[in-house]
Amino acid sequence: MAVYAMTGGATGIGAAIREQLCDAGHRVVSVDLRDADICADLSDYNGRQRAIDGIRQLCPEGIDGFIPCAGVGPSVKPPSLIARINYFAAVAVTEGVLDLLEARGGRVVMIASNSAPMVPLNDYVELLLDGEEEAACELADSRDTHSAYAGSKHAICCWLRRRSGELARRGIRINAVAPGIVQTPLSEKVLTDAELGQAMRDFGDSVPLGCIGQPKQIADVVSFLLGPGADYMTGAIIFVDGGHDAMLRPDDF
Ligand code: NAI
Repeated sequence: MAVYAMTGGATGIGAAIREQLCDAGHRVVSVDLRDADICADLSDYNGRQRAIDGIRQLCPEGIDGFIPCAGVGPSVKPPSLIARINYFAAVAVTEGVLDLLEARGGRVVMIASNSAPMVPLNDYVELLLDGEEEAACELADSRDTHSAYAGSKHAICCWLRRRSGELARRGIRINAVAPGIVQTPLSEKVLTDAELGQAMRDFGDSVPLGCIGQPKQIADVVSFLLGPGADYMTGAIIFVDGGHDAMLRPDDF
């Protein structure tokens, strides 16, 4: 039995990951706003610290894997909330449990998005990567929510790739899945959003494999990345999006 910690296990993709790992006989400690082993609001420092302290208390022997899955979608306002939860919380809690992962040769699987390559490494993404939370949030609030969302996921990908070499030397593998549209409460809010809904529905209609994804299809790949079959993988970003990224950027890899 392995011991995993995660955030965002209450609904959607996170709930599917939690269920799959529990069904396989593993122990999963989940952090979320509600329906969790550790209830914490990850949008601020105190909530992130509560999450880290709670995981340390419940898993003193270390963890075999960590999945920072909690996130909000591109319809959430103000856009700074997207930066705080999707990037700063994911990175802060991961950093806060690295020694627990190191103790058991653990793995991190981050949840990016196939929207990550839709924005460049711009000033907002640089501020995220520099850890400048207030400046990044101020900039996010001066722009649109889609840029805040895609930028937060772009930064997650850069952060994990930049850190993967050093973490490999500590015995920690770190990879990400980049889902396309997946049927969850988050995507439901975007698909019915007055501003983003039509574009999102059109995007969903253009998935090469013909439909949007299901949470289990993301959980299957997360489980693989947590397991022995992914022993030689670190620093990888796996698109699980029905072929959308390949369709949009065929020669860019
Ligand atoms: P969801 O809304 O079903 O689940 C998100 C979870 O994060 C919820 O359990 C929620 O309570 C938790 N959460 C949100 N804000 C929080 C906060 N401040 N503190 C603690 N927990 C908080 O969403 P879904 O779709 O399952 O998303 C999971 C991850 O997958 C997110 O990182 C999202 O960005 C990513 N993703 C989702 C896609 C989709 O189409 N559904 C596509 C690409 C990426």
